[in-house]
Amino acid sequence: MKIAIMGYGTIGSGVMEVLNTNRDVIAGRVGEPIEVKAVLDLRDFEGDPVQPLVVHDYMDIVNDDEIVMVVETMGGVEPAYTFVRAMLEKGKAVTTSNKALVADRGAELLRIASANGTNFMFEASVGGGIPIIRTLLACLTGDVIEEITGIVNGTTNYMMTKMTREGSDFDAVLKEAQEKGYAEKDPTADVEGYDACRKIAILTSIIAGAQVDYEDIPTEGISAIEPEDILYAKKMNRVIKLLADSKAYGDTYACRVAPFMIAEGHPLYAVNDVFNAVFVKGNMLGESMYYGSGAGSLPTASAVVGDLVRMAKHLDRVIPIEWKEQAITLADEKEQTYAHFVRCEGTDKAAIEAAFSVEEYVDAGIYGETGFVTPKMTEREFDERCARLGEGVFLKRIRLS
Ligand code: HSE
Repeated sequence: MKIAIMGYGTIGSGVMEVLNTNRDVIAGRVGEPIEVKAVLDLRDFEGDPVQPLVVHDYMDIVNDDEIVMVVETMGGVEPAYTFVRAMLEKGKAVTTSNKALVADRGAELLRIASANGTNFMFEASVGGGIPIIRTLLACLTGDVIEEITGIVNGTTNYMMTKMTREGSDFDAVLKEAQEKGYAEKDPTADVEGYDACRKIAILTSIIAGAQVDYEDIPTEGISAIEPEDILYAKKMNRVIKLLADSKAYGDTYACRVAPFMIAEGHPLYAVNDVFNAVFVKGNMLGESMYYGSGAGSLPTASAVVGDLVRMAKHLDRVIPIEWKEQAITLADEKEQTYAHFVRCEGTDKAAIEAAFSVEEYVDAGIYGETGFVTPKMTEREFDERCARLGEGVFLKRIRLS
């Protein structure tokens, strides 16, 4: 069975390695060997064993009738969208690890795949090697999913772990994550939360069966986290992690991506390094959690190859996935309710208490400022109370989970 790989970077080369290493076992599962016939990339890879397979024009793959499945590991919406669409319109099955593409055009590509009697799969787009998409699409289908809360970005989890445990410097630890093949080509997507935002948009779309636009999800990353914040968190027996959160809210969902201070004992507290975990609460299932390597070449490639095997066994059958293109309206983010940890300039507790009722003060030994925890309140109420603090008093807020 002949396939092509589009994009021979960290993940694309990982797919080749998985197919080579596990060639026999994969052939046994599919019924015949899977052979890479073409690799689309801008580079030539001179002297590399892949060199004879390299093509530079995606139409060479489109027009090759022997190629029945295509892996897209290029990243970014364009030209990936154009290439994937062309493959699907020729009836080729496609699997992608590209969360930007899936979040933006997933529903449309599923429709195009189905109209052409083929499959479009994207297990590797969320959670790296964790099979969370298939779990939601095929296993938890007897439940109403009430909550998904995930650590879905390996880069930032790795960074926060190192910064917390070893006091590592932000830029140095980001460089390490890049060297390990965890980060995006432009790591802004990781550190500013855009990558996690697209992933929670995909997961929420799947449980909603309809498009959730990632632009509608309030998103903050970890770039504003300072060593002082980590000291406060330690004092509270908490850790700071970037969470992507989606909760059923009436007939829609309330979503957010932000750094949270997580209490010891929370299921996501002990998820460290590049690991991802997705906590899922179903109305019948109750609580469950899915854990594994969330980024990096081979774990992500493992998920891609899992899709290849599944698609290979269904070349003549469309596996239906419900994801309507019409976007749903998310709940008003100002109605979301959290307790907040707040840092204020100065030590005037009377001024703080004129604005907020304080649950507890936190003393992390930081000179000239005051840290405290608020009771639970809506984002709207938080903004109103914050405005009552004097000019320049408010320094920082981190939500509690
Ligand atoms: N940059 C992503 C991460 C890769 O760190 O999670 C996996 O999607």
